[in-house]
This record gives sequence, C-alpha cells and structure tokens, in this order.
Amino acid sequence: LVLVVDFGAQYAQLIARRVREARVYSEIVPHHLPVEEMLARKPKAIILSGGPSSVYADGAPSIDTAIFTSGTPVFGMCYGFQLMAQGLGGTVAHSGDREYGRTAVSVGASGTLLAGMPAEHVVWMSHGDSVTEAPEGFSVLASTAATPVAAFEHVDRGLAGVQWHPEVLHSEHGQQVLEHFLHDIAGCRQTWTMVNIVEEEIAKIQAQIGERGQAICGLSGGVDSAVAAAIVQRAIGDRLTCVYVDHGLMRQGETEQVERDFVAATGVDLVVVDAEKQFLDALAGVVDPEEKRKVIGREFIRTFEAAEAEILADAVAGDDGDKVAFLVQGTLYPDVVESGGGAGTSTIKSHHNVGGLPDDLEFELVEPLRTLFKDEVRLVGEQLGLPAEIVHRQPFPGPGLGIRIIGEVTRERLDILRQADAIAREELTRAGLDRDIWQMPVVLLADVRSVGVQGDGRTYGHPVVLRPVTSEDAMTADWARLPFDLLERISTRITNEVSEINRVTVDITSKPPGTIEWE
Ligand code: XMP
Repeated sequence: LVLVVDFGAQYAQLIARRVREARVYSEIVPHHLPVEEMLARKPKAIILSGGPSSVYADGAPSIDTAIFTSGTPVFGMCYGFQLMAQGLGGTVAHSGDREYGRTAVSVGASGTLLAGMPAEHVVWMSHGDSVTEAPEGFSVLASTAATPVAAFEHVDRGLAGVQWHPEVLHSEHGQQVLEHFLHDIAGCRQTWTMVNIVEEEIAKIQAQIGERGQAICGLSGGVDSAVAAAIVQRAIGDRLTCVYVDHGLMRQGETEQVERDFVAATGVDLVVVDAEKQFLDALAGVVDPEEKRKVIGREFIRTFEAAEAEILADAVAGDDGDKVAFLVQGTLYPDVVESGGGAGTSTIKSHHNVGGLPDDLEFELVEPLRTLFKDEVRLVGEQLGLPAEIVHRQPFPGPGLGIRIIGEVTRERLDILRQADAIAREELTRAGLDRDIWQMPVVLLADVRSVGVQGDGRTYGHPVVLRPVTSEDAMTADWARLPFDLLERISTRITNEVSEINRVTVDITSKPPGTIEWE
C-alpha cells in the first residue's frame, strides 16, 4: 500500500493511478488525517501531492514533520516537495519567479531518482515559490532556470522529491521518476496486477457475503455494473441474480448484447424485465426534458424493485437467523474519494424500503469496484472475459434514447433514431475512432421537418444531429473534428437508409456552453 496525501490539488487521483500503473496499490488520504493514522495503515511509502501554490500562504495546509522521520519512505511532488524541504530544514523562497506549464529541467547528478534520464528534458511545472537550499544530507539532482533545487533525494533515509508534476503526461519520463522512487528507493514490490485484483476482490466478496443470503445486481449495459456482476458471480455463483430492465430506450443491439453475450461470457443468472410498453405509456405526451427524466427514473425504480421483491421473497436466512439480501453496485474509487468516504462497506437497511419484501430483510451493499479506477475496471472486465463491446463501451445515459428524441418519445421515433444511431456508430468504429471520441450522441429533432429532394421526388423529413465530442471526464467537452469523408459517409448512409430522415447536421458547440446531451 502506498498512501497519496491529498493537499487539495486535482492531481491526487492521477498520482494514485500512476502508482497503480507502476503495479503498486495506492489509496488517497486527506492531508488532515493525523500522521499516526497514516502510519498505522503500514504504508510501504507515502507520496505528498501538489497543492496550493505557496507554503507561506495563509492557512496553507501542512503536515506533521514526524512523517519524515518515521522511517517510511516519502516522496514529495510540487507543493509536497516544498513541504518536505521546509520540514527538514531546507529553504523555500518566495522568489517571485513563477513557472507554469512546460519547463526545461537540467539534470545534474542523476542519483537514483533520475537515473538514466537525459540531461535536459521537459517537465510540467506549476509553482510560485522555489526551494533554494536542500535539507542537510540531501543530494540536489536537477535545476531549472528559475529553481536552483528542482529535485533532491536522500536514498538512505528513503526521502526524495521533485518540483514538477511527474504524474501528468506532459512531463517527459514522469512515470520513470515515480517508478524509481517506488521500486528503487522505497523498495515497493510490484504486486498490483489484474490477476491479483480479480482474485483479491473475489476473496473479499466471499468474506463479506459468506454463506448468507442472496445477491441482486441491476445491469445497465454499461461497463461498471457488468464488471461488478461478473466478479460477484465468480465469488458466489448462482446466489447472484442480475436484473436487466429493458425500457425500450436502448440502442440497436444493446439488449441482445446483455442477454446473449454477457450471459455467455459470465454464466450469470439473468432476469430480463420487458417493460417497454410500461415506459412508453408513461412517456406518452411528455415533451419537457426534466419531466422525461423523472418519468423514466420513477418507472425504472418501480420496475427494478418489483423484480427484486420477487427474486428475494425467499431470501436465505443467515447464520444469525436474520434474512439478508445483498445489493451489488458498481461504485468506483473516484466516487468514493469525492464523497469523502474511506474503505469499507455500508449497510442501507433503512433507506431501502422495497414494497412486498419481509420487514426483517436486511440489505447490505456489495461494491466490488470501490477501490478501482475506470481504466482498471476495463482491465478487470477483459481479464474476466467480458465482450469488448461492453468493456470498451462509450458512456450512455441512463434515460437512453429517451433524451435524444427532441419531442415526444414514441416507438416509431425510437426505431428511426435507432437506425440512424446504428449507422453512425458503425461508421465511427470502421474509421477506428471509437477510442478517440468520448461519445457521439445522435439526436432526432422529431418535431422539426424540412424539405428535401431525393430521386425525383420532394421529401419532407426530419433532421438528425450528430454530436461527436472529445472529453476527459464529461465535465467539459469539445466538439470533435471528425474527418469530412467520415461525416459524408454517415450522412449519405443515414439519408439513404432511413427514409424518414432527409438531413444530417453536426453540432459544433463545446461544453460549456452546450451540454453533451441535448436534453
Ligand atoms: P451532459 O449532457 O450533462 O452529459 O453534458 C454528461 C455525461 O453524462 C451522461 N448523462 C447521463 N448519464 N444518467 C446517466 O447515467 C443520466 O441521466 C445522464 N444524463 C447525461 C452523458 O451521456 C454524458 O456522458
């Protein structure tokens, strides 16, 4: 275990991911966690993240200097580097020389940390103060135009640091720096592999559930719930039942993918609830986007709970005589970090009032992906043999195509949109751009009509909008500059093959101001 101490920068999660890429398990802890509690977790090393620009700023977060004399190896990055310098008696100066972005670093003595790195290379900096004097006994390894001490180490004490951000991709050799610290200075063993993750998670679930009760997992067709279900299935076999609510708002082939391919790959016990009519009846006449979301959300919970109640009505009694049911959820590590939560599982007895279930039935959450990042979840999915279409699926909203039909949602309109969307996805895949594009919603402007001409005849059809975007996390996005010939193929095929559509347009709005979805 390596602990990444978060000083409030956006970089802590990225650092934790990079540590795991170096095959060492890592977790994030807040900087205000007492040092004794950090050490009590027996980390093999501790990394201090970047943070606010100055250690001299009012209320700047700090850390008990006992951390540096505990014997546990410590690595400081950026702000963490300055805290280390200051805490060990070096000098941090308000030089007034700021460095932001790409900066050339000169490696003097490479030591262990920078071994094998070019004498000059480019790194990513973001700091106002500079370390002007390293603490006693430390070797200075590198400098920049504005920073006399840009990297140092004390290998015998297991302490090292760099002024830059080795975790960002713009820093050349960044991963190598991190690995030199983890492997060569801290002596961390490289045990965090996908095979181990799967085995550990299975063992953890077996320990949590044991011989008690039944588990239920809702499948959405997305990667998180699919991987969560597949792991739990490996752990408890047919005591897991998966529920897939077919709300009729999925894209072409998606329901079949879950019904056929997912089941074939995992052997899970799957209950498919065909609720298309129920959803479409509830959506009749609904045009307002928020109203649509509410209706879909409400119907979803109703349907899921009814299925759940039926499956769990005879939940097995546990050792202590109580009835226990487990609800599997695909919560990921970023959700856990962002909600300030730690490790462990929670029980949701009181929140979960499912109509039709016995009063003494207790619910426990099972969250097998709670420690994993999205890219790790995909690797675990591959390891478990899940179909690539599920493991590498682009994000798709819960309310499905319901929020991609502008206007009332009807069966007929859904079929039109499904055909257009299938063509667009097929061509994007054929162009090899699936992984470069975050997602490409196709939106049907169902209440708009325009005049066209096809063959010798006049048409009066509907437009669709292609919304290809690039993004890191969906919080912000840019419109994707798709090759013109790809756009042309999509446009020609959609207007030829989907008779109700006579116009294809492209949305060139970034987010903000536009959201990714149209509703
Ligand atoms: P917006 O449209 O807000 O979308 O820019 C950001 C990302 O979230 C997805 N999205 C949803 N996902 N339930 C979901 O699970 C929803 O209700 C929902 N609405 C939007 C959207 O596809 C994009 O990836």
